[in-house]
Amino acid sequence: MELQFSRHRRLRSSANMRALVRENHLRAEDFIYPLFIIEGENVRKEVSSMPGVFQVSMDHLQAEMEDIVAHGIKSVLLFGIPATKDECGGQAYHDHGIVQVATRFIKEKFPDIIIVADTCLCEYTSHGHCGVVEGEKILNDPSLELLVKTAVSQAKAGADIIAPSNMMDGFVTAIRAGLDEAGFTEVPVMSYAVKYASAFYGPFREAAEGAPQFGDRKTYQMDPANRMEAFREAESDVAEGADFLIVKPGMPYLDIVRDVKNNFNLPVVVYNVSGEYAMIKAAAQNGWIDEKKTVLEMLIGMKRAGADLIITYHAKDAISWLKEDE
Ligand code: PBG
Repeated sequence: MELQFSRHRRLRSSANMRALVRENHLRAEDFIYPLFIIEGENVRKEVSSMPGVFQVSMDHLQAEMEDIVAHGIKSVLLFGIPATKDECGGQAYHDHGIVQVATRFIKEKFPDIIIVADTCLCEYTSHGHCGVVEGEKILNDPSLELLVKTAVSQAKAGADIIAPSNMMDGFVTAIRAGLDEAGFTEVPVMSYAVKYASAFYGPFREAAEGAPQFGDRKTYQMDPANRMEAFREAESDVAEGADFLIVKPGMPYLDIVRDVKNNFNLPVVVYNVSGEYAMIKAAAQNGWIDEKKTVLEMLIGMKRAGADLIITYHAKDAISWLKEDE
């Protein structure tokens, strides 16, 4: 009897054969590493829900940056934790705000590192919302003005890329116009175009001290149940002049990453968020999973889904592990 079937295993016969036919790869250049800079002195505080991630004050930034460079990371995403917060998030767009100060420092000492500035208000507002609040409402258009001020002051400080994450409608239009008017026509906008209202941001809110003090973010961030809405969000950001499109979170939304990759021709960035990181860390610490293998599998899964770039807290480890395996 002659059996008819395909012999897929021919291409899996050895490590070299598997390498020969491997379709996707991870490189150090793929990663953007988030950094939390906190106002104050001599702070290097581990985020309890994110082992291995620290809030650092300016006096620890030199050492932190040296470590980042030694690992081969090329891009960082800056978040600031100010000493004081107010209704309108004034420290977000202050010339001497913590992100502006950190940006100037990194640009001077590590000029080749790409600085992506997260442009949002929630770490800076007393109420923890990403925009201007009136009663229980988050106002769209007044928030845009503050976001533009934030973006321009970040660009002035030397940020290479502006990454608005606050999910107000029209933020790309407003920020693009503001940057151009201030002479920053060459500074790209990496839009958090497709950002879901996700429980996976929990640990970040501890890291960035930006949890909403009332209500939630569901009137501005997207409903996890929706797919077509992601097309509408990405479409409008492309039309408004975005240079990169972020999909966030990563793991539970890889179908959306593929959709965005297939339908738009901008670089696609996936944000592998804090809750995804915390789950892997917790399981690894319990000895329930192999951290290295799990992280590398997750990250290659993101590239396979269509991500060109990955924002991830695992960046240092991932690059070290990739080098080990070379
Ligand atoms: C600020 C912002 C958040 C994250 C990135 N930028 C929190 C939020 O929207 O509530 C989450 C990142 C993470 O969980 O790692 N708007």
